[in-house]
Amino acid sequence: MPRLHRLLGLLALVLTPVVHIAPAMAASPLVERGAYLVRGIAACGNCHTPKGPDGRALPDQEMAGGFVIETPVFRAVMPNITPDKETGIGNWTDAQVAVAIREGKRPDGSILGPPMPVDMYRAMSDTDVQAIVAYLRSLRPIRNAVEKSSYKIPLPASYGPPLGKVPDVSPSNKVAYGKYLADIGHCLECHTPMVRGQLDVSKLGGGGRELPGPAGGVLIAANLTPGNPDGIAKWTNTQVKHAIAAGVRPDGRQLVRLMAFDWYKTVTDKDLDALVAYLRTLKPVKP
Ligand code: HEC
Ligand code: HEC
Repeated sequence: MPRLHRLLGLLALVLTPVVHIAPAMAASPLVERGAYLVRGIAACGNCHTPKGPDGRALPDQEMAGGFVIETPVFRAVMPNITPDKETGIGNWTDAQVAVAIREGKRPDGSILGPPMPVDMYRAMSDTDVQAIVAYLRSLRPIRNAVEKSSYKIPLPASYGPPLGKVPDVSPSNKVAYGKYLADIGHCLECHTPMVRGQLDVSKLGGGGRELPGPAGGVLIAANLTPGNPDGIAKWTNTQVKHAIAAGVRPDGRQLVRLMAFDWYKTVTDKDLDALVAYLRTLKPVKP
């Protein structure tokens, strides 16, 4: 019995820093990892943070919601995901927030609609989803009630069976980790064409998807596969990384701000290398 006690004591010691995540402890490694993901590759704020007239996210309104994306089949109003108890997700448990992110289900059982990239977030590891939740908890609560989204298309009954454990992907496996980052960055959500409201995964990364442009009009996402002679296939890795993280093409053209380079600029060079290594392995799709 004493041995068991010692063991439990040790376990409590190990678990304590993970369990008590308070905003005051913003420097905890978990919150830091969450900040790196949310403010970087995951670019949650590209949707959840309201934007100014120049299309840039408002820094003092992080995750306050209200930004609207309209397509012929839906009008999505981004929810407030700050810790505000009445208008945000302050009353949800950590587990409930994680289920919303990776499985697209709210505590009341309702299903999240597009363009919340749930299909891609299912790949998010347990560690990373916990880190993201911890970071969201550390944000300033902002009171901002937003209206509900409306969908003309039926939403799925679920995004798949309940997730079991999702292990971490090791960064030492460069291509696999690159794919993992592409999922968390929901890159191919925008860069894959759609047929009948579904991503055409046989043309993964093939571009051509029409997206509502920030200044009105329609924006076409680029073909990122090695099958596009006018695309990144001919660019050096450094040029591809510059397009992702700075939003500038080798010909000097600035990419439109819908592409989330304002966030990707904080992604480490090592992570960008993995991302590019993965893009190079995509099945070629002709433009
Ligand atoms: C491409 C846009 C987009 C991105 C990127 C995105 N979301 Fe969402 N999110 C949405 C939309 C739209 C909804 C609401 C859908 C609806 O109204 O049914 C939503 C809903 C949610 C909800 C449920 C909140 C509620 O009150 O219903 C949570 C939690 C959430 N998102 C967290 C995140 C996190 C964390 C990230 C980044 C890892 C993220 N989202 C990235 C669009 C996005
Ligand atoms: C919200 C949608 C969206 C997301 C998410 C997104 N992109 Fe893009 N991306 C676009 C659009 C739209 C363009 C074209 C912009 C333009 O024409 O100015 C683009 C352009 C690019 C380009 C330039 C290619 C070319 O031929 O001009 C690269 C490279 C790129 N994206 C890579 C990525 C990667 C890698 C990710 C994930 C880390 C990503 N994108 C996430 C929408 C998106």
